[in-house]
Amino acid sequence: MTPAPDRRDLLKLLAAAPVAAHFAAAAPAAAAPAASAPAAAASAAPGLPSARAEAGPGIVKPLPPEVFTLRGTNAETNFAALRSTGLHTPADRFFVRNHTSTPVLSESEWKLTVWGSGLSGRRPVEFSYGRLRSLPSVTRTALVECAGNGRIFYATQQGQDVAGTPWTLGSIGAARWRGVRLRDVLRQAGITSSAVDVMPRGLDDEFVGNGVNHGRVRRPLPVAKALDDVILAYEMNGEPLPYDHGYPVRVIVPAWIGIASIKWLGDIEVSAAPLSSPWTTEFYRLFGDAYPPGGSVPLGRQTLKSAFELPLGASLEAGVSHRLTGRAWSAAAPVSHVEISTDGGARWRRAHLRDTPRRDSWVRWTADWRPRRTGPAQLLARTTDRAGNTQPERTVHNTQGYLFDAVVRHPVTVV
Ligand code: MTE
Repeated sequence: MTPAPDRRDLLKLLAAAPVAAHFAAAAPAAAAPAASAPAAAASAAPGLPSARAEAGPGIVKPLPPEVFTLRGTNAETNFAALRSTGLHTPADRFFVRNHTSTPVLSESEWKLTVWGSGLSGRRPVEFSYGRLRSLPSVTRTALVECAGNGRIFYATQQGQDVAGTPWTLGSIGAARWRGVRLRDVLRQAGITSSAVDVMPRGLDDEFVGNGVNHGRVRRPLPVAKALDDVILAYEMNGEPLPYDHGYPVRVIVPAWIGIASIKWLGDIEVSAAPLSSPWTTEFYRLFGDAYPPGGSVPLGRQTLKSAFELPLGASLEAGVSHRLTGRAWSAAAPVSHVEISTDGGARWRRAHLRDTPRRDSWVRWTADWRPRRTGPAQLLARTTDRAGNTQPERTVHNTQGYLFDAVVRHPVTVV
């Protein structure tokens, strides 16, 4: 049986704010953003949609309620709004996760500064937008998925208290990203074999949580990952990056939690000593009874999930065949198969996969269901990947509700 959601826990979850952290860092001053989104609305920057008034706090693009659910400074994609989309999520349906608000930058004023003790020269190395564009380009599909995707189910399904944005399953999107290899940029900047960590930092406003200024959003990557498959992207699905998704240049770290993919990139520290930031010490690691007092190691890779392209609580007609559709994904390996249960988990059958499973993407699946009895029902989907990982029945609790990977019990009503 599913533990009934405790209303008190749910309310706590909905009210929860990020925990406090300290911040100290020394770095060259980064270029200031031209304007952040709320100010830009008044200044009517060229190219800004006139539908600004419809947007949520600090987000530039329109956020129609049939596509997005607003969550503070963020916008979650309603999973049902993906039903009509292909493998790549259109930019106007892609979720937005902003610590503050979208800065409206211009590519002519933009530059990237690469600096730090892991470079051969003493001086920072600068890349204008033109210099970056002159490097060989690569195009690849990757998912961006927030570490907190599915967080609400710790409360509603497991009856547990967690802090943070109560995402359902829509803080994820897949896109075709075009840009340059971070490796090529680091080599041009003179990275040496002494480098151990690489820390990209955004140009959005400093993030203040619980009265503590954590500085600009930044998070170190181990040099091995930075030199592997990370790209600095300037296009999303064949168009320049939209403002909300990092224009003019963002980092894309395939398979890793979304915070690694720093938007509005301004500078990169390359260090011969290990680096940290509040996004590795206070946030984005696992704290709780199952973890050491200082928390787990900083989170890297995402986990696996599946979701129905159906609103939570949807009504379905009895005695009629319904084509259930959804998506499944795993950061560790391509999806192997997806199982469906329409009776709350008593019996399972395989869903039909519409796509060839690939690493760093998702697969669309379908399953037909003809409900007979009216009343409440629970639909379940369970992903297994080619590395042998299967979604468990429960996720081990952590206080900030990261990496939820359990099978979600999707409530529907048969009418
Ligand atoms: N980069 C900057 N500079 N500022 C941010 O607030 N949010 C991060 C990451 N990069 C963030 C950022 C988080 S937590 C996620 S999940 C992804 O961006 C979301 O990317 P998207 O808004 O393009 O979907």
